[in-house]
Amino acid sequence: MNNQSYEQIINSIDTRKPAPENEPFRQYYFIERARRKLAEISGKAGRPLTFNVVTFGCQMNARDSEKLRGILEEIGYRKVETEDADLVLYNTCTVRENANTRVYGRLGKLHSYKKKNPHMMIGLCGCMMQEDHVVTKLKESYRFVNLIFGTHNIYKAAELISEALDHPDRMIIDIRQSSDRMVEQLPVDRKYPFKSGVNIMYGCNNFCSYCIVPYVRGREKSREPIEIIQEIEGLVADGVREVMLLGQNVNSYGKTLENPVSFARLLEQVVQIDGLDRVRFMTSHPKDLSDELIEVMAKYPKICRHLHLPLQSGSTKILKDMNRRYTKESYLALVDRIRAAIPDISLTTDIIVGYPGETEDDFLETLDVVEKVRYDSAFTFIYSRRSGTPAASMEDQIPEDVVKDRFDRLLALVQKTGREQTSRFTGQDKDVLVEQINEQDESLVTGRMDNNIVVHFPGDGSLIGQIVTVHLDECHGFYYMGHRIETV
Ligand code: 5AD
Ligand code: SF4
Repeated sequence: MNNQSYEQIINSIDTRKPAPENEPFRQYYFIERARRKLAEISGKAGRPLTFNVVTFGCQMNARDSEKLRGILEEIGYRKVETEDADLVLYNTCTVRENANTRVYGRLGKLHSYKKKNPHMMIGLCGCMMQEDHVVTKLKESYRFVNLIFGTHNIYKAAELISEALDHPDRMIIDIRQSSDRMVEQLPVDRKYPFKSGVNIMYGCNNFCSYCIVPYVRGREKSREPIEIIQEIEGLVADGVREVMLLGQNVNSYGKTLENPVSFARLLEQVVQIDGLDRVRFMTSHPKDLSDELIEVMAKYPKICRHLHLPLQSGSTKILKDMNRRYTKESYLALVDRIRAAIPDISLTTDIIVGYPGETEDDFLETLDVVEKVRYDSAFTFIYSRRSGTPAASMEDQIPEDVVKDRFDRLLALVQKTGREQTSRFTGQDKDVLVEQINEQDESLVTGRMDNNIVVHFPGDGSLIGQIVTVHLDECHGFYYMGHRIETV
C-alpha cells in the first residue's frame, strides 16, 4: 500500500467512535485523532508544527525511523532537519556505552530549546529505552521528556503521540518486554525514493556474550515470505530499484516459521520480482551462512556482490568465549568457499578489540585473519561493557591503554588492506546506482556499485535513481572517481 491509500482509509475514520482493537486499524484511528489535535494546536499557534527524528545506530533503526517519519507526516507534522522542532524524537541505540552517553548529552540541549518553545515535545524510543536503568534515570533526572517507548511497540507511535498531545504535562512511558505481534502496513517516509530497507525478521537468538541486542530487541521472529514479497512488490511499484533485506542474522531467517523456509529460498523468490534490479542483505552470521546461500548468490546477478560477515575476533579461544560458534579456521574456510563461488565479491566485517581475556597472541590472530581475508572495509570497535551481558561480569577486562594500542594497530592494517583491496576494480566499467549530488562538488554525482563501493563522477540530478555504467578511473582509498560511459 502506498501513502495515498493510507490517506483514503484514515480520512474515512470517525474518531467519535471508540478505537478499534485490531492493528493496524487501531493506529489509523489514532493517526486521525492526533491529526485533529495537532490541527487545533497549530491553529492556536498560528503556524504548522514541525518534527525531527534523529537516528542513532544501525540499519534496523534507520528503517524504524523511516516508519516513524511516515506516521508523523501522516499526523500532519512538517519534517525539518534541525532539533529546535516542535517534536523531536530520538531513536536510540545501546550497542556500545558511548551511544548512551551521546543521548544524555544531547538531551541537555533539547531541554534548552523546550524552555523557549511551549509547544515542544521530546520523545525517546529504540534500544536504549529497553534498559530499566535508563528509564529510571530519565524518570529521575529528565522529567522534561514527554514520551518514552521501546523497540517492541514502534508501530504504536501514533497512539502514544496522540496521548502525549492530549497530556503535554505528563511523561508517557510504554515499554514492553517482548513483541506480541509484528505490525506492518503503516505509512513510511523513505529517505531514498529508489532504494529501501525491508525488515525480514526482528530480534536475535544468538546471545554473543558481549552483545546487548538479544536483551533489547527480543527473540528472533521472521516475517512470512508472502508478506515480504508483497511489500517489495509494492515498493517496486512505487519506484524502488534496490532493496536491502534487514535482520540481525538473516542467515537464520525462516527457521521458526510454521512452514520453515531458508534465507536462500526467500532470496530466490525476491530476485524473481520484475522491476527490482538489486537485492542486498545485512547482517550475516558466519555460523549460519549455508552453501545453499552461496550457490544462490552466485546464480543470480541481481544479488549484490557484497557480504558483511562479522568476524569479531580472529582467535578461536576468544570466539568461543564470545559464544560465536565458529573458529578461526572455519571462518577462513567459509571465506574460501565464498570467493571460489563468487570471485569478485566484496567482503566487509565488524571486529571488536579488547574483549575480556584477549591476549596479545589472540589479537595477533585477529590481525592474521585481516591479512588473509583482505576485507574491502571493516568497522572496528573497542569492546564496551554492557551491563546484563555475560561478558560484563568477566574478570579479565583489558586495560584501556592496551586496548587503545591494539585498536590503532588494527585500524592501520584494516585501512591498508582495505585500500589495496578496493583498488582492484581500477580501469573497469561498473554499474552504479546514482544516489545523490556530491556533497562537496555540485558538478559530481555519487552512487554505489553493487559491491557497495562508492563512486563519484561528473553528472547532474537527473541521474539520481538511475543505474548507469561508469568507468572507474582512480581509487582513492575507499571510493572511486570515474566517468560515465554511454552504453547501447
Ligand atoms: N562492544 C563493542 N562492540 C560491540 N558490538 C556489539 N556489541 C558490542 C560491544 N559490547 C559490535 C559488533 C557487532 C556490531 C554491530 O557492534 O561488532 O557486529
Ligand atoms: Fe549481537 Fe551476536 Fe545477535 Fe549480532 S548475532 S545482534 S552480535 S547477539
